[in-house]
Amino acid sequence: MNPFLEKTFQNTILTGDLSLLGGSYIPDSFPHREKQIEHLVNLLESITRNINPSNLFIYGRTGSGKTSTVMHVTTLLSEALPGKIVIKHINCQVFDSIYSIMVTLVNTLSAQPDQNIPLSGWTLDRIYVELISRIDEKGVFLLVVLDEIDKLVQKNGSDSIYVLLKIADDLKKRSSSLIGITNYIGFLESLDSRVQSRLRQETIMFPPYNATELKDIIKYRVDGIVKKESVDDSAISLCAAIAAQEHGDARKALDLMKMAIELAIREGKDRISELEITRAKDLLEINVLRETIKGLPAHSKCVLLSTILSQDISKRPSFTGEVYENYSTICSELGYSPLTSRRVGDIISDLDDSGLITTRIANLGRHGRTRYVEVGEKREEMSKYILEEEQFSGFQGKKLGRQTRFEGEWADKSQNEKSIDAITQATIDPDIIN
Ligand SMILES: Nc1ncnc2c1ncn2[C@@H]1O[C@H](COP(=O)(O)OP(=O)(O)O)[C@@H](O)[C@H]1O
Ligand SMILES: [Mg+2]
Repeated sequence: MNPFLEKTFQNTILTGDLSLLGGSYIPDSFPHREKQIEHLVNLLESITRNINPSNLFIYGRTGSGKTSTVMHVTTLLSEALPGKIVIKHINCQVFDSIYSIMVTLVNTLSAQPDQNIPLSGWTLDRIYVELISRIDEKGVFLLVVLDEIDKLVQKNGSDSIYVLLKIADDLKKRSSSLIGITNYIGFLESLDSRVQSRLRQETIMFPPYNATELKDIIKYRVDGIVKKESVDDSAISLCAAIAAQEHGDARKALDLMKMAIELAIREGKDRISELEITRAKDLLEINVLRETIKGLPAHSKCVLLSTILSQDISKRPSFTGEVYENYSTICSELGYSPLTSRRVGDIISDLDDSGLITTRIANLGRHGRTRYVEVGEKREEMSKYILEEEQFSGFQGKKLGRQTRFEGEWADKSQNEKSIDAITQATIDPDIIN
């Protein structure tokens, strides 16, 4: 008997393809995103009437459904307008220069592979002219989706977006528009005002899902993949509650459920209970935490280590100023030149987005508003994973310190006040770094 076939045969839970719960699969509908979808459709519908839509800015935390919702709607749009529209979804984490984006756009408009232009060698001006002439020649509408647009701006400044906005002005026949997507609202402020006003002609917010909404999403997504009676309702509730705590991250909810189903199958169980969800959570956290930390750029590791050690030293959440001081000390011990405090402020926001730390604003009496940073209970594991990295070998961190100037005000605040002061990430000014 083939052992692989035997294992498959024993599974009594699955009725469909489990891989559809994760990765890049785009479902046909999105519970609790009806308003956002309607807004998107209303905006883009004008293209079907030869009227140019506004540019659009989409904001929401990780896992709030931005990427997949936009892909779903743009796929419907391209089906409705065959041959009349070119839609290009660009992930700016992968295509992080305006040059690579422009080359990709030109090559998307190649009729044959031999019309592709090279990945290097052409000047940007020449690529731009080629792009305009190809779009005009085809007489198509160009819709560019810049996903994780903050990464593009972080590396290349606002001008990179300006080039893409300008395409619309230079086309003779049809036009073009942009959809910018980000997890990080603070990025808008870093934009030049002319770019900002054009990009955010329309804005759609994707608020975090709450536990009830996540329950519906999990139920909808597991339907057809597992037998209905094999997943306990309490398991779905627990899974939703865990993901709701992680800023309502639907990806987290689906990953957890997928892992729990895999665990149950592997162990020959016929149902998924809260136990499987709890075990899946532990397993995912270990894997994800290690992977996330190992994948951070060198300076982000230093900032994270500084955050952890600053908190250990002062026994309270750290102010961004002390994180910066200690980060600089860590850099000098490792022989790196430290980044500016503004860049470190951006890194702190990125670390917050990836859920490794939490940033909040506190109102500290005469010192005014101050951003502070907190690392959760996984501190020890995190510093262990960082210090395991080769670049940190021999690291001692003897010269690290704390700042005492806010101490009085901090101690005066009751626990309640500290949490009332907490303002959500959405309103945090990335420049607040004391
Ligand atoms: N309302 C929803 N219904 C069904 N699946 C959803 C919903 N929202 C998000 N998802 C799924 O959750 C995962 C994360 O969504 P994604 O669009 O990548 O989020 P974001 O781009 O905001 O980080 C994807 O697998 C997506 O299909
Ligand atoms: Mg996304």
